[in-house]
Amino acid sequence: MTVALYPGSFDPVTKGHEDLIRRGASLFDSLIIAVAHNPAKPNSLFTPEVRMIMLNESIVKMGLQNVTVTSFTGLTVHFAKSVGADCLIRGLRVISDFEYECSMYQANAKINPHLDTFFMMPSLEFQFLSSRLVRELASHHEPVGTYVSPHVAKALKDIYHT
Ligand code: PNS
Repeated sequence: MTVALYPGSFDPVTKGHEDLIRRGASLFDSLIIAVAHNPAKPNSLFTPEVRMIMLNESIVKMGLQNVTVTSFTGLTVHFAKSVGADCLIRGLRVISDFEYECSMYQANAKINPHLDTFFMMPSLEFQFLSSRLVRELASHHEPVGTYVSPHVAKALKDIYHT
């Protein structure tokens, strides 16, 4: 049984994340999505709890049976061990992602050389999509339905009254 851990901020989950979740769920026996909760960084738009609710709704809508959602504090590599994950999944979009992902991979590998990371490219239409872009568009009352599922668009609308 292969367990993959997909850690991230998911603030909020986008169609790019959903694309990777769908594909990751078909590659691994079990996929754990972990919302990173960093109390030292209180400037996220949605609380970890709300981010988890939105992720769960996405999973139900996609009909995925082998995916669970949780949250964690501390280092991803430590959390991965505590849940028995065999590998991490990370999305790799444009070149700008590469530097950060590379350093994170190297730091994680130093702590636990047995924890591998699978980098997955989102589909072409989501290559330039990020949660930050979605938050910014929504905050300026631009529609975000192309980038996020309806339940997420509604949550953003509730915040910004778009
Ligand atoms: O969706 P994001 O913001 O790209 O996710 C980044 C995240 C949360 C996966 C990363 O920052 C992370 O793993 N945070 C937990 C602390 C940690 O393990 N940092 C890396 C040490 S090099």
